[in-house]
Amino acid sequence: MRVLVLGSGGREHALAWKVAQSPLLTKLWCAPGNPGTASLAENVALSPEDPEAVVAFARTQKVDLVVVGPEAPLMAGVADALGAAGVPCFGPVAGAARVEGSKAFAKEVMAAAGVPAAASETFTDVAAAEAYARARGQVVVKADGLAAGKGVIVARSAEEAAAAVRELAALGEAGKRLVLEEVLEGEEVSVIALCDGERYVLLPPAQDHKRVGEGDTGPNTGGMGAYTPAPFLTPAALAEVGESVIAPTLAVMRARGTPFRGALYAGLMLTQAGPRVLEFNARFGDPETQVLLMQLAEDVLPLLDACARGQLAPRPLAVHAGVTVGVVLAAHGYPQSPRKGDVISGLESVGEGVQLFHAGTTRRDGALVTSGGRVMTVCARGATLVEARERAYAGVARVSFPGKHFRRDIGARALAEGS
Ligand SMILES: Nc1ncnc2c1ncn2[C@@H]1O[C@H](COP(=O)(O)OP(=O)(O)OP(=O)(O)O)[C@@H](O)[C@H]1O
Ligand SMILES: [Mg+2]
Repeated sequence: MRVLVLGSGGREHALAWKVAQSPLLTKLWCAPGNPGTASLAENVALSPEDPEAVVAFARTQKVDLVVVGPEAPLMAGVADALGAAGVPCFGPVAGAARVEGSKAFAKEVMAAAGVPAAASETFTDVAAAEAYARARGQVVVKADGLAAGKGVIVARSAEEAAAAVRELAALGEAGKRLVLEEVLEGEEVSVIALCDGERYVLLPPAQDHKRVGEGDTGPNTGGMGAYTPAPFLTPAALAEVGESVIAPTLAVMRARGTPFRGALYAGLMLTQAGPRVLEFNARFGDPETQVLLMQLAEDVLPLLDACARGQLAPRPLAVHAGVTVGVVLAAHGYPQSPRKGDVISGLESVGEGVQLFHAGTTRRDGALVTSGGRVMTVCARGATLVEARERAYAGVARVSFPGKHFRRDIGARALAEGS
């Protein structure tokens, strides 16, 4: 099989790493890829957000499957263009990817599907939204459109709520509509389903760490680390999420003529009253993908291909015993103003069983240097969470670059839970 992975982050390196292990694979490309994928695939200078260019490449190279990593190509209609050209694509058409692209649309779908979620109201009138927010005091304000993780504010007072409405309404297109929802309390867990438009299989639950600082302090980031399985969702509860969240959402998308083929990511909060969906993403999470693909104990390529072709046979996935932990190494100044160009060393000595997934790295004069906020994810598996953390953090200690920042408490919430 000839496969093209679109994207250049840690998620895409992990996808390339896992796909490269498949006996079915004959050729692998990454567009644009990064120095990590360069050792597994042919990196090609192709813009993933240019549907025509992606289709032209797929046709010329006789690509059998395109795997879309990030959300932007999906919103740009790459899956639609590939579908029209008869090229199988793992990733939803733009109409289905709206479950991520529009928070208001996602709420509509959740309501139509009867998915348990936070009570909410959608506003186009800023003054009305501000009045509503003031009246509620405690409220979560969400910009409707994509905002690179900067579109959600959890307000704890009437003043904060009113200011949040004004701030997010000023976000241009993304802030034209605002979703205001009740503040929920509980553990956050990510559940990712591989879907073929009608059927799905579930990856184990994972927990991300959004805030830049230990103890969940400081600003939100793209994610500072993850581990799987997250013990807060038992296998029975996970299956229940499949039935009460994923299946009805797929049915609604299909009924609307935009079947969801790809990775449906449900961001859940485990409240006293049970799991509640905070959001949907229309793609694999980052850094969850890095740990999930290390935990998966089977070939991922037939699964991605079956989803793209609408031919998935639902069954429990084979996963390794134990736990996988992934720690993100961030550049100095991330998330506000990450510094670029710092020389990275120590990669060759990270130790047995430690896997590095590149993101913000590039080659300059033969040296590997930082080129983005999240530089790489250091992942390791262990029989227990404690063992996996020890291995991952031993790897973290071996990788060096000036200003390296990472959280020392990835997985700590599960440790506190007694895992
Ligand atoms: N109803 C809610 N109650 C409490 N906290 C919430 C609620 N909705 C969102 N949050 C908090 O805000 C964070 C971001 O919200 P959400 O996941 O909807 O936005 P996002 O920007 O799309 O995130 P991502 O970058 O993960 O896709 C959540 O991870 C959670 O911590
Ligand atoms: Mg999101």
